[in-house]
Amino acid sequence: ENGSASSALLHGVQVLITAGPTREAIDPVRFLTNRSSGKMGYAVARAAARMGANVMLVSGHVALECPPGVQRMITESAADMLKATCEQARQADLFIATAAVADYTPTAVADRKIKKNADTLHLEMKRTTDILATIKQEYPHLFTVGFAAETHDLMTYARSKLERKNIDMIAANSVAGGKAFDQPTNALEVVWKDGHTSLPEMDKQQLAEALMQLVAAQYKQRKQ
Ligand code: CTP
Ligand code: CA
Repeated sequence: ENGSASSALLHGVQVLITAGPTREAIDPVRFLTNRSSGKMGYAVARAAARMGANVMLVSGHVALECPPGVQRMITESAADMLKATCEQARQADLFIATAAVADYTPTAVADRKIKKNADTLHLEMKRTTDILATIKQEYPHLFTVGFAAETHDLMTYARSKLERKNIDMIAANSVAGGKAFDQPTNALEVVWKDGHTSLPEMDKQQLAEALMQLVAAQYKQRKQ
């Protein structure tokens, strides 16, 4: 949106971003989802585009408009998001996973609307595939940034996710008591192999700009 030298830090870089919630179908009229509004991911996409990047946003259903200069694909389930992301990753230089992906999905989708009969209903679920870990496994040279939403032990879980998923950076935020979800502000602990920074609570767009400055700096350092 503006072309000053510092804002063109990601000029020509292909940035792939996942954002928003997923929807896991139970039957033809119902699904399981989560509280993600997509705001943080969309703010990150907007920030990356402002820095001159070519941005592809793989998004769940959200009530947000596509930021200017960003290309968007809307996906439904965790499996759909995985497929779209894998296809787009081939062209990407930088991958940022902000999506709140379902960890479990119903083992079977009823092909007809489930009728209310019994007093209790049991839903069997199976693990979904981790999009972030899969992308890093398939494209080890792709610079990869994850998010972590935690209600407790923020830094411990952030560091363990960084290592377990073998990613380059992680941005951790506290979601204790519904904090962050669907809120205009957020705060992040940004962690990488040999450093970390705290970004204090601020507007999500400002926070995304600050995060993207850190990401761009680490990305550039890696490319040298
Ligand atoms: N993620 C993903 N695909 C999944 C689950 C998570 O790409 N199936 C990504 C998220 O987009 C985020 C990161 O992994 O960037 C961490 O997500 P989070 O839910 O915090 O961690 P999990 O590994 O799912 O562990 P848990 O929910 O048990 O804390
Ligand atoms: Ca999870």
